[in-house]
Amino acid sequence: MSALPHAGVSFRPMRIEDLDTVCAIEQRIYPFPWSRGNFVDSLIARYTCTVMELEGGIIGYGILTAAAGEAHLLNLSIDAPWQGRGHGRALLMHNIDLARGLGARLLLLEVRPSNEVARALYRDVGFEQITVRRGYYPDTNGREDALLLALAL
Ligand SMILES: CC(C)(COP(=O)(O)OP(=O)(O)OC[C@H]1O[C@@H](n2cnc3c(N)ncnc32)[C@H](O)[C@@H]1OP(=O)(O)O)[C@@H](O)C(=O)NCCC(=O)NCCS
Repeated sequence: MSALPHAGVSFRPMRIEDLDTVCAIEQRIYPFPWSRGNFVDSLIARYTCTVMELEGGIIGYGILTAAAGEAHLLNLSIDAPWQGRGHGRALLMHNIDLARGLGARLLLLEVRPSNEVARALYRDVGFEQITVRRGYYPDTNGREDALLLALAL
């Protein structure tokens, strides 16, 4: 477990018992949330699933997978009341450290073009766009593209 003493925030591996809270956050913050099954599958597959806690409560989580020197950040989420206070940046930096620890030299992720907040964070941390995945995400009007971003570690 690592901690950011200045923010009172800590990280630990996600457990199956966390999924009621995690899924409630997921429902709150995404128009097209991951299902409980997506999280169960990530735990079963032994992806690096992390929760971020503040005062004993979960305020965010990340799902990371790594193989053959390449890591993929599949989910990065901060609960609605806690957004915009630096926690997303801290959670991202923690996942970057985890990816390095798993031997990755490249970190990939997808983001919706319409997600200005996440894009600004990723740009600021140094991610670069490598391609566009057409119609990757479900959307109210059909499908939305994904930007595939990469960060050299
Ligand atoms: C995207 C997300 C993880 C960012 O976490 P956060 O805690 O809200 O963001 P932070 O407070 O750490 O801010 C980090 C950077 O994001 C950007 N940002 C944050 N809030 C912003 C806003 N309202 N408008 C524009 N940019 C914003 C800024 O670049 C900010 O850096 P700065 O504070 O130095 O200016 C979080 O908002 C979230 O979970 N959103 C819903 C789920 C989601 O979209 N996940 C990402 C999917 S790819």
